[in-house]
Amino acid sequence: MARYQKVALIALCSTFFLFLSLTTLHRTPVAHQDTLIDPTAQQVNTSERNNDAELSEANRKEGPLQCSMTWHASSGDNDRDNPEYKHDQQGCRHRQSIACTGKRLGRALVIYMLQTKYVRDMAVELNSFDFFMNVGVFGEHESTEMFEGVDYVFTRMMPPHLGKVSAPTIIAEKGNIKLMWVPEGPCDLCAHGRVIAYLGGVDAVKANYSFIALLNGGSRGPFQAANDAAWIDVMAVGGQATWSEATPPIMVGPTVSSQGSVHVQTYCIGLHTARLTQYFPFLTQCDNSAAGKARCINGGEIPAGIEWLRGGGWIHSLSANDTLRTPDDAAALAQARQKIKFLEPTHAHLDLCSALFAKFGGTFTKNVRARTAAHAAQLILLYPLNRTLSGRVLLRELLGSGRFLNLAEGVNYTVIINAWFGVPGKIEIRDGVLQRLRENIDANSGRLVVPSNLTDYFGLDPAPNVSKVLAIHLRYNDNDHHLRAADGQELRFPD
Ligand SMILES: *[C@@H]1O[C@H](CO)[C@@H](O)[C@H](O)[C@H]1NC(C)=O
Ligand SMILES: *[C@@H]1O[C@H](CO)[C@@H](O)[C@H](O)[C@H]1NC(C)=O
Ligand SMILES: *[C@@H]1O[C@H](CO)[C@@H](O)[C@H](O)[C@H]1NC(C)=O
Ligand SMILES: *[C@@H]1O[C@H](CO)[C@@H](O)[C@H](O)[C@H]1NC(C)=O
Ligand SMILES: *[C@@H]1O[C@H](CO)[C@@H](O)[C@H](O)[C@H]1NC(C)=O
Ligand SMILES: *[C@@H]1O[C@H](CO)[C@@H](O)[C@H](O)[C@H]1NC(C)=O
Ligand SMILES: *[C@@H]1O[C@H](CO)[C@@H](O)[C@H](O)[C@H]1NC(C)=O
Repeated sequence: MARYQKVALIALCSTFFLFLSLTTLHRTPVAHQDTLIDPTAQQVNTSERNNDAELSEANRKEGPLQCSMTWHASSGDNDRDNPEYKHDQQGCRHRQSIACTGKRLGRALVIYMLQTKYVRDMAVELNSFDFFMNVGVFGEHESTEMFEGVDYVFTRMMPPHLGKVSAPTIIAEKGNIKLMWVPEGPCDLCAHGRVIAYLGGVDAVKANYSFIALLNGGSRGPFQAANDAAWIDVMAVGGQATWSEATPPIMVGPTVSSQGSVHVQTYCIGLHTARLTQYFPFLTQCDNSAAGKARCINGGEIPAGIEWLRGGGWIHSLSANDTLRTPDDAAALAQARQKIKFLEPTHAHLDLCSALFAKFGGTFTKNVRARTAAHAAQLILLYPLNRTLSGRVLLRELLGSGRFLNLAEGVNYTVIINAWFGVPGKIEIRDGVLQRLRENIDANSGRLVVPSNLTDYFGLDPAPNVSKVLAIHLRYNDNDHHLRAADGQELRFPD
């Protein structure tokens, strides 16, 4: 995170910024448009995936878990019709596959923190959250090569207009997902630490989980191609060609900073819980005074890295593909970076593909650096549809039952989350479409009014002589709506 220096916030890539419109809307019933379209979900064929899972299941034996990781260079060079070809051209030139034998570890735990801020400042985080919801959340019974399953706790500070909690409080819970309010706190590590305490403390969490991922709403990902290993496995294997339970506990993050001392950047940390007892004190620097944030960083994040190494743990940086195995490795890295006056990796140093999660605005930066945004937008456009995970269905259900995503009181807001124009499953144009719709909401005081001639409206015809649709996923106040308008039909929302 940006700490001692101000991060230069360059103008946002406009096609990617989630434009958020706050406005007054007329009281009118929402009617015809609720015919569903889930832009990212429609091509998922879970039965295929299950068949694969059953096959590989038969090959797994009892005995300790042994994993091997293979790097693959870009594969689609010759076949321009291969979806991976396009993905590769955007810079994702290396892929990891992970194969394991032996008994899986139990379940992994993911704690995901969403911030609470003024509505306009939530746009980037909400967009990242939506992305994670679609491609980051495993279903309750979905196993990976390394883990029997993955559990999730989504936390958010309670917005003041809804009240205040003095301890973590469950909002909704089902299957492998919990939604939770957490009290106000000075920083991310403190918020994550409170969840661990709520779950029964270090020993209880260690008893159930051998791996934890801590994620902030400002991180975006996972960025992966069609056949990549499960993201949680990529974190857990921590860049090692082979992994077994004899491998020292690894702490992994997209980047490693050497500011202050070598440490994993906190917007995304994965760690093997073998050293959770020793790490936990760094998650409890919860001081709400003005000095609280500095204390959280200087007494939490920064010293945690070197302590991890001193205790025999390893640190791996996903984007640099570097593993630090001893305090001497950390000193050498810090020295090498001092020579070139490089302390903190910033967006420019992130390869989104290999980092898995990139810092993408949110808690500590409201905006996204243009280059990062452009790169990410390209990757998202080419995102293989079959990376969606089945946990998104349950998460949506839980979100619908509480006020976890409630942003503001007394104003009606419409946020376009996703949209495309084209022929379902064949050609779905997103670029420019999102932006046009966001401008539309702005121009119509919060309402969406799209004229009937879509070709004319968007200024492009992605499929001449074929009937096209406009599909929109938006959030209106607390509720998600999936709208669909056929060419030739005017769309008004709210009606
Ligand atoms: C928001 O919308 C509701 C119902 O559509 C309406 O009753 C309310 O007055 C609106 N709020 C504002 C601030 O316009
Ligand atoms: C999903 O995959 C299975 C197995 O390959 C196939 O039988 C089925 O027809 C597919 N379903 C869809 C909707 O494509
Ligand atoms: C650990 O798992 C047991 C059995 O499923 C469950 O009862 C308990 O609540 C879990 N504890 C934590 C901290 O997740
Ligand atoms: C996803 O799609 C790609 C090609 O588009 C295919 O090669 C791959 O096997 C699919 N993966 C799954 C899990 O269905
Ligand atoms: C990552 O580093 C390992 C050596 O530590 C190397 O074998 C591997 O090729 C590297 N992967 C990439 C994509 O650079
Ligand atoms: C829609 O607009 C395009 C481009 O302006 C035009 O060519 C076409 O005839 C229009 N379609 C209808 C049904 O009016
Ligand atoms: C669309 O239809 C018109 C008139 O039927 C025809 O002249 C034109 O070639 C068609 N365009 C395409 C791309 O098929």
